Amino acid sequence: MKGALPALGAALTAAVVLASAEPMPSPLRDEDIPRILAFGPWPPPPQPDPSNRVSGQPAAIAFGRQLFHTPALSANGRIACASCHQAARGFSDGLPRGVGLARGDRNTLALLDLDLQRWYGWDGANDNLWAQSLRPLLDPREMGASLEHVARSVRDAPGLRAGYRAAFGSEPGADDERVAVDVAKALAAWQATLRSGRTPFDEFRDAVAHGEREAAAHYPQAAQRGLALFLGRGRCYTCHLGPSFSNGEFHDLGLPHFAEPGRVDPGRHGGIRKLQQSRYNLLGPFNDDPARGSATSTAHVALEHRHYGEFKVPGLRNLRDTAPYFHDGSAATLREVLRHYSELNEERLHADGERLLVPLTLSPQETEDLLAFLDSLNELPAGSAVPGGRAQVDEAVARDRTAPAAPELHRPDVVADHRKKASAIRRSRQQNEPEAPAR
Ligand code: HEC
Ligand code: HEC
Repeated sequence: MKGALPALGAALTAAVVLASAEPMPSPLRDEDIPRILAFGPWPPPPQPDPSNRVSGQPAAIAFGRQLFHTPALSANGRIACASCHQAARGFSDGLPRGVGLARGDRNTLALLDLDLQRWYGWDGANDNLWAQSLRPLLDPREMGASLEHVARSVRDAPGLRAGYRAAFGSEPGADDERVAVDVAKALAAWQATLRSGRTPFDEFRDAVAHGEREAAAHYPQAAQRGLALFLGRGRCYTCHLGPSFSNGEFHDLGLPHFAEPGRVDPGRHGGIRKLQQSRYNLLGPFNDDPARGSATSTAHVALEHRHYGEFKVPGLRNLRDTAPYFHDGSAATLREVLRHYSELNEERLHADGERLLVPLTLSPQETEDLLAFLDSLNELPAGSAVPGGRAQVDEAVARDRTAPAAPELHRPDVVADHRKKASAIRRSRQQNEPEAPAR
């Protein structure tokens, strides 16, 4: 039933939209309504990437999908992007930290809704999706290849050669770097199509936007209380905002700084250095947009001490699929994530940063409510799909099921060994309270 309310705007109050159809008064306040509306609408249309001339083009998207599942691009011929970015896990791998040719320092990021981001990687070391896609090909701990190996793999395999020709309108040329960057651009074109589907929260948000009381009342009370906490006392909203639930920026949550005992992960500080030195940033020669329209943020980014230990604010959609959490994979469950926010060690937070975070000392009921809210950000089961939503993802899930992905990475003993190492690191970190690097 549609209420006699205007679609949006000041006339919408929590009491009018939410309370009347409810046996219980809604925990949400009037000032929460505009914030709730700003979490949508979902799904947003695909965002074109002017720095990538094949962005949005069907032949490049098809070639990118093919490349994503091709282990031949790696140095040992056994690791594909899809080995670590598995469709059924929201394109992550279920491990605390990614394992390719060797174990890396960071948790494998999910690959949904990438077109909405400005910075890529936990440290934002790349300002565009194709540079971020070239990185794992060349990283010695991930796929360990060279520009030459990538270019040769495409020239030598008839299937890939044909894919390249269809996507770029010519044979792969003799310039290895050009061909490898084109490979990355096709990979980016495909990844940019991966949009997460609609969630119970989106249904609620639209019901609020349209003043549909009965539909809004279907959203569980516990999730409403969690949402009220998210927007209110929890202050989650200061960083996790907008349709992706991320401000796209970097913050320090006071997690330990050591990647291994004795070795620090500098986070955003290292990311800015890498970004500024990269040949593949938006200021460099491979940006296909002569106007460099999207390069403004890159030109203005400045390296400051406060960037030590800052990591990207992740989006919060579909977290059900992407445990463990945090840049170092140190939280096995969402409950552990909330415990971190609840107990926060203020000594560890940078004194020169904004004081956005205080220990929340959540009650058990508040923890359950926040979990119910986060759970409502998981997409609805297939079948309730909307245009521009799940289709590409479902196809990728089906494809992964039939594709042999580097099986040795997921042998139970390898995974168990990996988990053991991760928890040993975590324990040793807890014992020697690390200091932030000198600033
Ligand atoms: C060994 C496992 C592994 C492989 C193989 C791998 N990745 Fe990743 N991927 C990761 C990890 C770990 C991160 C986070 C890295 C970081 O922040 O330092 C990541 C991050 C990303 C991101 C950034 C997402 C974001 O939200 O910022 C993209 C895009 C990406 N990978 C694409 C690819 C592509 C394309 C390939 C194949 C060419 C690939 N990855 C191969 C583990 C892997
Ligand atoms: C000061 C900004 C800020 C605030 C406030 C904040 N977060 Fe975060 N959140 C982050 C950052 C940054 C990360 C990643 C940190 C890392 O891995 O080093 C993160 C990570 C997370 C994750 C893990 C996601 C993943 O994929 O690993 C969840 C869940 C989360 N936050 C939920 C919340 C909730 C719930 C609240 C409120 C209780 C909250 N956040 C408040 C910045 C913030």
